Amino acid sequence: MPTMQNTRSSPPHDDRLATLAEQLSHNSLPYRDPLAVIDWTALSTGDAWLPPEMLSLHGVAEFDALPEQQRRDLSVAEFVHFAQGGLWLEALFMERLAQAMQGDSHGLTRQLYQLHELREEAGHSLMFCETIRHSGLNPARSPYSRLRLAGWLARHVSFDSPLFWSTVLLGEEVADRFSRALRQQQVAVNPAIYQLVSIHLVDEARHIAHAREVVGCAMADMPAWRRKLLQRITAGLFRRFVQIFYYPPVQTYELAGLSQPRQWRQLALSNPQRQAFVTAQLRSIHKVAHDAGIFP
Ligand SMILES: [Fe+2]
Ligand SMILES: [Fe+2]
Repeated sequence: MPTMQNTRSSPPHDDRLATLAEQLSHNSLPYRDPLAVIDWTALSTGDAWLPPEMLSLHGVAEFDALPEQQRRDLSVAEFVHFAQGGLWLEALFMERLAQAMQGDSHGLTRQLYQLHELREEAGHSLMFCETIRHSGLNPARSPYSRLRLAGWLARHVSFDSPLFWSTVLLGEEVADRFSRALRQQQVAVNPAIYQLVSIHLVDEARHIAHAREVVGCAMADMPAWRRKLLQRITAGLFRRFVQIFYYPPVQTYELAGLSQPRQWRQLALSNPQRQAFVTAQLRSIHKVAHDAGIFP
């Protein structure tokens, strides 16, 4: 698999990628350390960390009947679940970015931009960890560790492969759509959370632009049979990731202090309003993936 997916870009593509890397490196300055920028004193679990419309149980009559603070507690626990998703994706990406520094196959200009991405992802992971710490919740394990195949592929396919960058692009798109939905509801959420997602959106816009271009170059001359194979693999990985991302595990309902957490999760799984929210989020991601050739 790693060899089959390895596609070195041709010289014109190398030029395009180097030009983009130069521009993005320029746009990455000045670096803003999220730990220093975010007003952590404002981060309170007395506020909502997600707007009501983004909760997995939104619209479920039994949940809507609960006291307001209990519903806010779920918003904190579900935000922690989102942060865990960010940490899982960023850890894999940082690992590969750091490894890529050991080779010189991309030239200095692209290496420089990869270091900007590495620094920014480290900053995001720091702010996600700090946020989890402020939540006072202590999730025992990351539900994303169940995605063994995705984790294995992300570690072992070639760094230059369209498969690697397709998964990077899809992961970043999911987190980005979620952050955008959150940011539209500024008054409904805690100001430090709003700050956090705003910082993430600005940095991720560059990361997404970069990933889109790398995918585009890597797929440009790909034979149809390989494109189809790639589409099947990415579709399978994507399905499993979004199922965990949008449908938190029992642990999340437990951390929110809800009794009978298994039953709450079942209600979330069959919640039509959640399904409508997820469908709306995925619609725009599918379009991006289709335009990039990642999805049919
Ligand atoms: Fe990030
Ligand atoms: Fe990113």
